[in-house]
Amino acid sequence: MNNPAISVRSLWKVFGPGGEKIPGNRELSALGSAELLERTKCVAAVRNLSFDVAKGEVFVVMGLSGSGKSTLIRCLTRLIEPTSGQVLVDGNDVLKAGVAELRELRRRKVSMVFQHFGLLPHRTVLDNVSYGLQIRGTGRNERHAKAREIIELVGLKGYEQHYPDQLSGGMQQRVGLGRALAGDPDTILFDEPFSALDPLIRRDMQAEVIRLHKDMGKTMVFVTHDLSEALKLGDRILIMRNGEPVQCGTGDDLVGSPADKYIEDFVSEVPRADVLTLKWITRPVADSTPGDAAVLNSRMIIRDAIPAVMHSSCPVLVEEGGRITGQIDRDSILSVLQPAEAAA
Ligand SMILES: Nc1ncnc2c1ncn2[C@@H]1O[C@H](COP(=O)(O)OP(=O)(O)OP(=O)(O)O)[C@@H](O)[C@H]1O
Ligand SMILES: [Mg+2]
Repeated sequence: MNNPAISVRSLWKVFGPGGEKIPGNRELSALGSAELLERTKCVAAVRNLSFDVAKGEVFVVMGLSGSGKSTLIRCLTRLIEPTSGQVLVDGNDVLKAGVAELRELRRRKVSMVFQHFGLLPHRTVLDNVSYGLQIRGTGRNERHAKAREIIELVGLKGYEQHYPDQLSGGMQQRVGLGRALAGDPDTILFDEPFSALDPLIRRDMQAEVIRLHKDMGKTMVFVTHDLSEALKLGDRILIMRNGEPVQCGTGDDLVGSPADKYIEDFVSEVPRADVLTLKWITRPVADSTPGDAAVLNSRMIIRDAIPAVMHSSCPVLVEEGGRITGQIDRDSILSVLQPAEAAA
């Protein structure tokens, strides 16, 4: 990948006594979590992880509880000190950064939104949002003007003088989001920011993130254990298990071609027609298919192709890059619909 926003190489985080010896030790590093804990009293929360995040990408990290998601995301700005490996942000080596550089990184380049909001309870919404600018030394008028702009952007206009405990959970998380945006960072890290919110508010907040991403084009790393959230937000999704990467790809890749049983279980509940593209159901063109049949792009989501295919009296051709790659018909669509939908 050219000029990734974040580049992670062979990253390890081992908690426990003598943890720094484990990544380089072939025997110990190969042990499973239970045995490692028994023999060394150590937990390898992140094991030999490598990936790149492109500029402007929404990169989602998923996995069951305890799989190392929070540890990983905190290692990116050294809120947790990695044990070994490399983290580059915009090409700069975070593990080699001094105190001042690290402070700059957290204040200006990469900000974070936490699950439990982490707001300052005795400060107003306005002061919470402008806090990062204040510690950077931005003057009062300038930081308040900027904060008011952001407050409007996250839908809290009118609440500038309220205190966090006067707001609902969803509104508090909007403040958290505002605070992360106020410093105009290149990258925002989210650690399950919406998991404490009820489903409707959660959906609003997801839409908000999608909108902000579209408008501002920020790079985002988003931790969640909700697959539908991951599919909605993520350009790519990394699935972790016990600190290790299991599969990394688009939602279409993970659902269409799960790497193993763990991923298969993860994606088993997904409405496949909403995620998969036509390429997964494309078959060779039959001799009987007329040359002037309708043509759809192979990257179209199956759901969006339903009307065209169901209303066509013959199979529909599929193209990629201007070349016909095959055809689909009613049966191919029905094969991925839920039984209830297919009967309707
Ligand atoms: N400070 C710590 N000391 C020792 N072990 C830790 C520490 N922090 C995390 N761990 C262990 O590291 C592993 C990964 O934890 P982590 O919090 O990163 O998981 P997670 O994927 O974020 O889980 P969740 O979905 O529950 O938030 C767990 O086994 C956890 O017990
Ligand atoms: Mg976590």
